[in-house]
Amino acid sequence: MSHESKGEDKVSKERRTTLKFITSLSFVMGLGSVASLLKSVTPPVLEIPEWPRIKIANINNIKPLTWYLFTYPTSEIPCILVKTGKSTPYGIGPDKDIVAYVMICQHARYYGTIYIPPREKRDPAKLTYLKTVPPNVLELYPDKNLLYCPAHAAIYDLEDGGSVLSGPPFCSLCKVVLEYDDTTRDIYVVGLAPPAPAVPGVTLCSKDAEELKRIMLGKKLLSEVTLEEKI
Ligand code: FES
Repeated sequence: MSHESKGEDKVSKERRTTLKFITSLSFVMGLGSVASLLKSVTPPVLEIPEWPRIKIANINNIKPLTWYLFTYPTSEIPCILVKTGKSTPYGIGPDKDIVAYVMICQHARYYGTIYIPPREKRDPAKLTYLKTVPPNVLELYPDKNLLYCPAHAAIYDLEDGGSVLSGPPFCSLCKVVLEYDDTTRDIYVVGLAPPAPAVPGVTLCSKDAEELKRIMLGKKLLSEVTLEEKI
């Protein structure tokens, strides 16, 4: 082999090595682009937050047999708070009679449910909103605190964990978990408890406390809550 052809061989070997290096580099860079492309199209995994703990009232300002409206844990979930005048399983306060529930009907997600107090206050002339409730419904369960759904006449018992007394709902109301500070007499809202409310994003009537938290997923959580007295 001549001196010249030996030189050419050396040059082409160097070219092949350089070419191999460039090819490998492009492959690695290509993988990087694919990875970043995949990253950009894969939806981010949202972490379900903990229930916010929020002061909602001082017990001195809560009248018995009166309904108070608020929203929790987001502005889309309407809730009701009532001092029922009777000790109940989920009640808080010195008399264990203050309860709260999500107001959404568990049958077909009706949001306009109505509080019916016991008969001592069940007078449509005084509580004009009761005029929208059929008289025969007002005669039922006269001594109870009720939540009534005008859509298909469901009646829930607010003294018994929101259980269904009549009508088509599949399960009791979703409970709002309250805490009472007997030093300051403040009432706090600290979460929701199963069954899950009939809202999109959760399984209707789910008893899974963790799944219930999905109603907060990707939503703006409230940091303060105002009670509105309903008249
Ligand atoms: S939506 Fe309430 S009873 Fe049907």
